[in-house]
Amino acid sequence: MIKVTDIAYARFRAPDLDKMESFLTDFGLVRSARTDTALYMRAANNAHHVHVTELGDPAFVGPAFHAASEDELKIMAQAPGASEVEDINEPGGGKRVRITDPDGFEVEVVHGIETVEPLTIENTYDTNFGDNVRRRGEFIRLKSGPTQCRRLGHVVINVTNFKATDAFYKSNFGFISSDECQNEEGETIFAFNRLDKGKDYVDHHTLLTVPAKEAGFGHLAFEVEDVNAVHMGHEFLKSKEYHHSWGIGRHFLGSQIFDYWFDPFGFRVEHWTDGDLLNEDSPMGNYPAAHALDVQWGTGPETRMIDIP
Ligand SMILES: [Fe+2]
Repeated sequence: MIKVTDIAYARFRAPDLDKMESFLTDFGLVRSARTDTALYMRAANNAHHVHVTELGDPAFVGPAFHAASEDELKIMAQAPGASEVEDINEPGGGKRVRITDPDGFEVEVVHGIETVEPLTIENTYDTNFGDNVRRRGEFIRLKSGPTQCRRLGHVVINVTNFKATDAFYKSNFGFISSDECQNEEGETIFAFNRLDKGKDYVDHHTLLTVPAKEAGFGHLAFEVEDVNAVHMGHEFLKSKEYHHSWGIGRHFLGSQIFDYWFDPFGFRVEHWTDGDLLNEDSPMGNYPAAHALDVQWGTGPETRMIDIP
């Protein structure tokens, strides 16, 4: 078993790369590379790409995670059903191991993909919180437009066998539970998974596998700068008449301020900011599944967010 160090990207298929690129640009990603058959979009951080779309019928192919080293890829390649370590024949290069999860999604574990120069984040202002005054003599004057995604943060996958899938991701990639959610019989039916980095603080979740009647894609979530960025992104996407999903609100589990939208092919993407960070000293939480998507403010979830059988 290895411990993956972060989420790298998610891979999709769609029949119209132009349409996907314009949506993702409006959502706050930036084109990193484009070939005749695929689109690679980056965030503002140094990752070469965080979102891949191959030309084809709409589909979620699977998520990709970073391995710490090429040696870790070699260990990964020994897992049952894993590919050999192979060159990634795509912009950014690098190496990967592919392995299929219990629902047939193709998971990539990658290492050595080129990095790029980070982009400057705009619309950043110090905040004044009560007595914690940090902005003096400076006015907030926000520029409208796409809100910049700083980085990719987490993926949510709908799965048909939670136990098998949870065991697969934990045993192969070293994920650990931040919070587990139980049904009325007390059985754990899903878990918010974070990276295992010991004392280092990491996001409350990098992977959530949600039980569903049909396997499928849940959502892909990108961190934005602050609450201004969430609202500026919301207003811009609304002005472009894209299909809104849910938000703006503040989650209970994970605490993020969130806003969910659909891309033109029905794949849900999220802007979030101000989430919880945990480390090995953080106790695992247990919560009723019925309250997993409760909000601390904002509207409750639309029914399609979680369709527990
Ligand atoms: Fe999310």
